[in-house]
Amino acid sequence: MTITAPSQRATRVATPLTVLMCRPSHFTVTYRINPWMNPDSPTDTPRAVAQWEALRDAYKRLDFEVHEIDPIHGLPDMVFAANGGLVIDGVAYTASFHYPQRQPEGPAYASWLGVAGYDVRHASVVNEGEGDFLAVGDVILAGHGFRTDPASHDEAARVFGREVIALRLVRPEFYHLDTALAVLDGRVGHEHVAYLPGAFDADSLALLRDRFPDAIEVSEEDAAVFGLNAVSDGLHVVTAERATGFHAQLREHGYEPIGVDLSELLLGGGGVKCCTLALRGPEREF
Ligand code: ARG
Repeated sequence: MTITAPSQRATRVATPLTVLMCRPSHFTVTYRINPWMNPDSPTDTPRAVAQWEALRDAYKRLDFEVHEIDPIHGLPDMVFAANGGLVIDGVAYTASFHYPQRQPEGPAYASWLGVAGYDVRHASVVNEGEGDFLAVGDVILAGHGFRTDPASHDEAARVFGREVIALRLVRPEFYHLDTALAVLDGRVGHEHVAYLPGAFDADSLALLRDRFPDAIEVSEEDAAVFGLNAVSDGLHVVTAERATGFHAQLREHGYEPIGVDLSELLLGGGGVKCCTLALRGPEREF
């Protein structure tokens, strides 16, 4: 299905994604590996599941093909599927987690991707998948500073044969690239992103402004509710419902924001994009 928005919005085209998600059946906060997590605050797992189901259903209404990996007891962060790898052109570069609490997730996601038929390439360095790697056009933007080792940027460049652009994250609450930057249109020649300027060091910000002169710069308020932790099909942008300023900016640029409430998962430091790993087959541009 291809939907083209009216009038000057005609350049926005929806291309439904194929994604991998993990039901938060075992979600809770038992350790603290980012500033959002507080093991002393209660979590409500049934509520997390209900919010996650609403996200999955929103994807299904957009004609996304949604796959699910079985959640594993004792891995409360496994719901954050974006961290499970990076999949482009049918090739899956596996994740190798920074913190020991999440390390068993790497092989679990790698095994799912292998069974699903992807060409699995095992990482030899720490990286947290699409948490820090975002494909846009024919390049890969790659975060570092908190989780992903810059050495994996080189490894990803070799695996995918693509240019990898390193971006240094400087704010602990925006510890993964996908909390500070959203790819809105990834098609070659139509590249469009949104980001929080203050999340990057000066050189990285200069690089972003140079590469993406028409990018949407998002406010602190909208970033603080994880508005940038968004998934776009090129027309619809699924994002935090509380990021209302970002919604207005998206509309001005011809997108249709779709707000969801993942407040329970935010207690783990995750949002829409964190729950979503894009599975890009050989035929898919972004
Ligand atoms: N609690 C998880 C962690 O700190 C949250 C991961 C969020 N995922 C993401 N793609 N940003 O690792």
